[in-house]
Amino acid sequence: MAGEGADLSFPNVAELLQTAKNAFHKRFQCQPTHAACAPGRVNLIGEHTDYNDGFVLPMALPLMTLVVGNKTDTGICRVFTTSPVDGPSYVEFAINSSQEPLAPSKPAWANYVKGVVACYQGPQVSFDVVIVSSVPIGGGLSSSAALEVSTYTFLEAISPTTTPITDRQKALDCQKAEHTFAGMPCGIMDQFISVMAKREHALLIDCRSMEGQLVPLQDNKVAVLITNSNVKHELSSSEYPVRREQCEKAALALGKKKLRDVSMDQLEAAEASLEPVIFRRARHVIGEIRRCEDASLALENGDYSKFGKLMVQSHNSLRDDFEVSCGELDSLVESALEVQGVFGSRMTGGGFGGCTVTLVKAEVVPEVITHMKVGGYWQVLN
Ligand code: ADP
Ligand code: GAL
Repeated sequence: MAGEGADLSFPNVAELLQTAKNAFHKRFQCQPTHAACAPGRVNLIGEHTDYNDGFVLPMALPLMTLVVGNKTDTGICRVFTTSPVDGPSYVEFAINSSQEPLAPSKPAWANYVKGVVACYQGPQVSFDVVIVSSVPIGGGLSSSAALEVSTYTFLEAISPTTTPITDRQKALDCQKAEHTFAGMPCGIMDQFISVMAKREHALLIDCRSMEGQLVPLQDNKVAVLITNSNVKHELSSSEYPVRREQCEKAALALGKKKLRDVSMDQLEAAEASLEPVIFRRARHVIGEIRRCEDASLALENGDYSKFGKLMVQSHNSLRDDFEVSCGELDSLVESALEVQGVFGSRMTGGGFGGCTVTLVKAEVVPEVITHMKVGGYWQVLN
């Protein structure tokens, strides 16, 4: 961490664990026996490509969610979060069973925990847990996936399966929890990176084959800077399923299973037969899949200028063709790009608010921060 003023310093895992243990003791008057954690993520490039079977290139953050607790024999699951949530921060629910299967209910945040419990493949048990997190909630850095994956890992610890669950299955179970309990038809990126990330690496994920390729990302001369627009527009949850449907419609009209199977030439040849909005959505996705592959190669070659150019193209495409950016994100990107030494900048995550990610020469980070006049930032590399 470096910089001045708005640097959002965050606790390390030991500090977070201590906070969680203290909170657990205060609430349940005993010590937790188990702890599990999972990171938030930033997506470097490859946006809205995962549910089109394309590529994404996220990296894990040192921001994380921790679940601490005990297995109990009460048949009641008791869950407390220390994070700022809508509604009560404490919930109780009966153990999941075939007679009384868990169902989503209020408060909304607890559905992420219930969903994971319902999708967990091991024996169902009751537990007491406390959740603490350094991932900002609703900031586009995947606090939800971090909560799902840490909860899943906690369950694996207190109630192991007879045969070990693969990382891929774990990511899929967590994604299913988000689909069925949180009602968000997300792709696989967030859960996949939260389960499989490695330090000092980005992960190129092929969302069709579900294979990940580690791409080293550790160079003292460059920094990855995340800046929070501190806005979350209503549209973020309602427009996501619309974008998914538009992509499916495009693939169908082009006679393919997914947009991953369509080339730019094929799309352009079919332009006249497509609704303009469907054409633009598909143009973003097909271009972005290509950019993501190219960017991964550029990163491997240490070609930051190329990587940065692709980031900017990605942002412009998300703004103009996919229409998931917003004024606040566009302004952050524009002001970052005004500073010498910035390779590239773009919105990251689902859009309509949240954060931008900027690749920059480490020595100019303080200048970029001052120039961008941001409310909060994290420097996560260098
Ligand atoms: P993000 O980009 O942060 O994943 P989402 O809107 O997809 O944003 O998910 C955020 C939601 O996940 C929160 O509104 C809350 O319901 C739930 N959530 C995430 N982290 C926590 C936490 N630590 N404690 C309780 N709920 C959480
Ligand atoms: C996220 C979603 C991911 C991915 C991303 C856009 O909010 O959870 O699966 O689709 O938006 O790239």
